[in-house]
Amino acid sequence: MKRPIIAGNWKMNNNKEETKALIKEIAPLVKDASCEVVVCVPFTSIETARKAARGTNIQLGAQNVHWANNGAFTGEISASMLTELKVKYVIVGHSERRQYFGETDETVNKRAKAALKAGMKVIICVGETLEEREAGKTAEVVMRQTEIALKDITKQELKRVVIAYEPVWAIGTGRTATPEDADDTIKFIRKVVRKYYGRSSGQSIRIQYGGSMKPSNVKELMAMPQIDGGLIGGASLKAEDFAKIVNYDK
Ligand code: PGA
Repeated sequence: MKRPIIAGNWKMNNNKEETKALIKEIAPLVKDASCEVVVCVPFTSIETARKAARGTNIQLGAQNVHWANNGAFTGEISASMLTELKVKYVIVGHSERRQYFGETDETVNKRAKAALKAGMKVIICVGETLEEREAGKTAEVVMRQTEIALKDITKQELKRVVIAYEPVWAIGTGRTATPEDADDTIKFIRKVVRKYYGRSSGQSIRIQYGGSMKPSNVKELMAMPQIDGGLIGGASLKAEDFAKIVNYDK
């Protein structure tokens, strides 16, 4: 059985003090979760989050990673810098990085490979824009993004990969994909994975849905056969909402 994974993506929110307070508030509320619980915090809050989460079932994630070990890459953070801080998960290829910071399918692949080589788990984000969806290009886009993101990642490494399907038009907009639409696209992503890694990998890879997941829709989304978790933005910033999402099966 696959273990579902609910991950909070705090984006550029919460300084150290706020981080400590939020983790302390979340921890008791999610302690009996049956899914994996992850919070992806800003780089500057990692150390604080790690200390606040010590002894809890909350795992620590970052929101980006560079592919080089070190060097002249102003503003970037390497995989070893993250593992030194005991970061277990890292998001790569979030649509906000793609939209605002020039992230490409190729750089997503480089970042994912570096994180995996360093022993971390990665959450690779894919998803179409509204324009692409309306032009009937959803499958084409997520296929390209998935194929390139996974290039040269071994079958062994794939076990540490989670894919987050996040339709861009659903992120932070309050609009959610219908459970059926999300499930269909995720099923299609499994097919792409299967083509390169075989049937069992296509089945076993965990694929999350992301985009305005919240307490009021988590149950029906998680009830879909292909959806193995969620990547939560806005609702992960409120302890009570995040806990309700994590405890979707209670
Ligand atoms: P949202 O963000 O839950 O605020 O829509 C999801 C994400 O960007 O990962």
